[in-house]
Amino acid sequence: MRKLVFTSVAIAAAAALALTGCSGGSDRGGSTGGDGDGASAGFDAGSTIGVALPDKTSENWTIAGQIFTDDLTAAGFKPDVQYAGSTSPVPDQQAQISAMIQSGAKVIVIGANDAKQLGSQVADAAAQGVKIISYDRLISDTENVDYYVAFNNFKVGQDQGTALLDGLAAKFPDQKSYNVELIAGAATDPNAQVFFNGAMDVLQPKIDDGTLNVVSKQTSFEQVQTDKWDAANVQERFDTLLNQNYTGDTKIDGVLSPNDTLARAAIQSVEDAGLGPIVITGQDSEKASIPYIMDGRQYMTIYKDTRKLVEQTVSMIKDLASGKDATTNTTEDNGSKKVPTFYLDPVVVTKDNAAEVYKDNDTLYPLTQQ
Ligand code: BGC
Repeated sequence: MRKLVFTSVAIAAAAALALTGCSGGSDRGGSTGGDGDGASAGFDAGSTIGVALPDKTSENWTIAGQIFTDDLTAAGFKPDVQYAGSTSPVPDQQAQISAMIQSGAKVIVIGANDAKQLGSQVADAAAQGVKIISYDRLISDTENVDYYVAFNNFKVGQDQGTALLDGLAAKFPDQKSYNVELIAGAATDPNAQVFFNGAMDVLQPKIDDGTLNVVSKQTSFEQVQTDKWDAANVQERFDTLLNQNYTGDTKIDGVLSPNDTLARAAIQSVEDAGLGPIVITGQDSEKASIPYIMDGRQYMTIYKDTRKLVEQTVSMIKDLASGKDATTNTTEDNGSKKVPTFYLDPVVVTKDNAAEVYKDNDTLYPLTQQ
């Protein structure tokens, strides 16, 4: 196992920070470093790092667990990676985080199942001096989140909205308006609302000026959200919605889908109803969706390279281990505080750039060549 080496300079710096208390405002947006809670004296390289991931509602979560195990081990830490089960994910995750605190984890990385139901667990963590890094999904309404690391979710939504408009204009060049339907993710996941807000930032003006016609009239987040991010729920909603609204000459042209899993479900429903072809968005660059992108059944996806997100998280943990504040590039408001945040940039993928974007990904690149 590789050991982290702490220089005497780093230790002295950490001690000085601890002495001065280094507390106060959390709004350090745009700068590097500074969680506002004060750098601690660090911890041993061999320490346990907890990673509490949600149930595997999309492939990125499945991939993340293995990469965390590998990268944390390579950095000399002892990873404790746990997933919530799909039957009762919230209590599972709460129990897993409590167990991690009990077992002496120095940092707990959390991909929240329900961002509003971890308040008492992260309060316990804070009381024990355990740092919390919110991973991909921001834990809300608590002071006790030290850092957030994610791809910029609002930008993901905006990119999906823009791509839907571009795809519609390209596929139906003779049309001036388009019939579309909207899908959002699970209300318990704060990202779902942010993706939707980002997309509507682009799409709402086009709904207002009549370019887009949401035939079902289901336009609010509450109407279009998908319980548990479950594909079966989208398929059921779409089977009904298509049956009720797309009769006679009414054709469906496009669908805003927040991710690939739900896009495949909507495509299935549209094809089963004998409708389409449609322009549909996605996210995650799931293996199963790359063939859809390449043959035009799905217009776009988003690439959020999980390797990079984990790498950034592990880099934060290394900073904390050496007694430093972790590097951040902005802040994000979680309802209680401005959480020091590191955002990575999502990448838009269509058939045109898929091979280029995935060229260093041994799993995805071959799928662009078939
Ligand atoms: C993630 C998405 C994912 C979704 C469902 C979101 O929080 O950011 O990448 O598709 O959860 O698992």
